[in-house]
Amino acid sequence: MISFEGVQLSFGSHQVLRDVSFSVTSGQMTAVLGPSGSGKSTILRLIMGLIRPQQGRVIVDGEDVTKMSERRLQRSRRKMGMVFQHNALFDGLNVAENVGFYPTYVEKRPWKQVLPEVEELLEDLGLADSAQKLPGELSGGMRRRVALARSLIYRPKILLYDEPTTGLDPYMTEVVAELIAEMNEKYAVTGVMVSHDLPTVYDIADHVVLIAEGQATVVGHPSELLRSEKPEVIGFASSWRRHIIEYSGEMSKEE
Ligand SMILES: Nc1ncnc2c1ncn2[C@@H]1O[C@H](COP(=O)(O)OP(=O)(O)O)[C@@H](O)[C@H]1O
Ligand SMILES: [Mg+2]
Repeated sequence: MISFEGVQLSFGSHQVLRDVSFSVTSGQMTAVLGPSGSGKSTILRLIMGLIRPQQGRVIVDGEDVTKMSERRLQRSRRKMGMVFQHNALFDGLNVAENVGFYPTYVEKRPWKQVLPEVEELLEDLGLADSAQKLPGELSGGMRRRVALARSLIYRPKILLYDEPTTGLDPYMTEVVAELIAEMNEKYAVTGVMVSHDLPTVYDIADHVVLIAEGQATVVGHPSELLRSEKPEVIGFASSWRRHIIEYSGEMSKEE
């Protein structure tokens, strides 16, 4: 569905991606992990064709987006939705109107026709009681869910998530992560999620790729984060591995 083939990208003299190759399978959730500044958000921008690499190819749904004209890129972007930490909602529109924004304001479909789709999504995402509220009245977790609903309404084949749980408390993190997993399954989307949050990745990703020092390491199933012998993976996941191991040690002491 999406593949990076030998991608090299620099901003001026700063080389961010040296030689990145990995692929994302249709219908799965692939998590892109890596230290801050390693190029994770850059990878999402490459998928959308917002920036072009100096070398290599980025294939999205069978087409190389690095060589596309702006017009064809716009068509390609219609297949994609994007959910990120600071999703801008329209402050003057209520929750239902925010969710229905794309079909009503962009596709110009009548509200009467859009409303049942909006209602279904609000129901799915636990927002039915908040339909008439303004974004300013919502908690961070609810705003994140509105952003997810707003992306899902145009039935994207691909959903890109940039740190979708960052800044949420542990309870809301779990709620949002679970909803992402459920919605991905219900709407059969291919997901690419950039995250710092290892427990979320562990819970909902099917496949993990680690970006570090300009290269991609394919970790595989999230359980490999704890088992992998690859030094990059051990290095990145070490504090978290320690935490899990201590935690399971405490659990066995209690038994
Ligand atoms: N438009 C840009 N111009 C110059 N440097 C950039 C630009 N976008 C990102 N960078 C740099 O590229 C590196 C990777 O950025 P980013 O992909 O946002 O990292 P991450 O999401 O992994 O934290 C960072 O050092 C960042 O400062
Ligand atoms: Mg980022």
